[in-house]
Amino acid sequence: MECGDFSTFYTSMGQLPKVTWFRSDLYNWEEFWYLAGHLPGAMAAKSNFQAKDDDVFLTSSIKTGTTWLKAIIPTIMNPDGRKDDDSDDPLLKHHPNELMPSLDLGFYKVNPNPDLSHMPSPRLFRTHIPYTSLPESVKTSACKIVYITRDPKDTLVSTWHFHNALIGDRGIDPWPFKDAYESFCNGVHAAGPFYDHVLGYWRESIKRPEKIYFMRYEDMKKDPKGEVKKLACFLGKPFEKEQEVEKVLWRCSLDRLKNLEVNQHGIDPWLGIANEHYFRRGIVGDWKNHFTDEMKEKLDQLTAMKFEGSGLDFGC
Ligand code: A3P
Repeated sequence: MECGDFSTFYTSMGQLPKVTWFRSDLYNWEEFWYLAGHLPGAMAAKSNFQAKDDDVFLTSSIKTGTTWLKAIIPTIMNPDGRKDDDSDDPLLKHHPNELMPSLDLGFYKVNPNPDLSHMPSPRLFRTHIPYTSLPESVKTSACKIVYITRDPKDTLVSTWHFHNALIGDRGIDPWPFKDAYESFCNGVHAAGPFYDHVLGYWRESIKRPEKIYFMRYEDMKKDPKGEVKKLACFLGKPFEKEQEVEKVLWRCSLDRLKNLEVNQHGIDPWLGIANEHYFRRGIVGDWKNHFTDEMKEKLDQLTAMKFEGSGLDFGC
């Protein structure tokens, strides 16, 4: 499925620090860890992608609730996304990954210089690339960036379940939770270190609130209407009626998406991942089912230390 010449990127990759993260190779590029299959696309995007002023980027580290926003942002941007009639809702036929395609794990993974001219404006993209490694034009143009993060304890549990679902499909034994925990604390995981990823976007969002909208999964769960209204304003598509907010939230709810045929079957063509694996419990505090007291204590201390003085916390 690959076309174009990735040889320069493969040569650069060969010189980078490399570790094994539960049976997968991770490469350290510009201070962050990438899965082997994901890095050339990120490098190519950085070299070749040109942002437009009306592009919208959804950015996150992994398993922080991105899929919820992959559904919500396209629904907010779609002029018909708030209509009473649901028969034309794109979510009925498309997994949220398709509505907000990945820059680096999609377009630039298969071609280092893809022709994106066919994409209608405003173009919607997602990426796990950290702020510092984004293509320069994403930072300097007027395009908007939405970032979502989540309590690191639940992020880790979600990552562990997701990974086990993927390897379970291949008949591989589950990943020991304590190994996943250690890697997370050491910052060695896909899109890690988690804290550096979060802080990169957080600090920039404080400097440029009109450019980067910073969200937390827990706030979305607590006050979805309030959060989605603010998000719609940031995107320049404010709601006029309360029913519109309710409609968008209903269309993008976990219960609805999880039960749609398109999300119960089918595989992401770029990532080879079953659509169903993106939807699980979607609760706050699932870490309580997996952490010992000692694990909680240690990770909370790490979080407090990393975020000290930043103004960011998860209320733990
Ligand atoms: P859990 O594993 O805790 O259930 P990402 O989308 O960044 O990969 O994150 C996945 C997490 O978001 C999973 O969390 C998943 O269940 C949750 N999620 C996916 N779609 C959601 C939705 N529509 N509403 C709320 N949470 C959702």
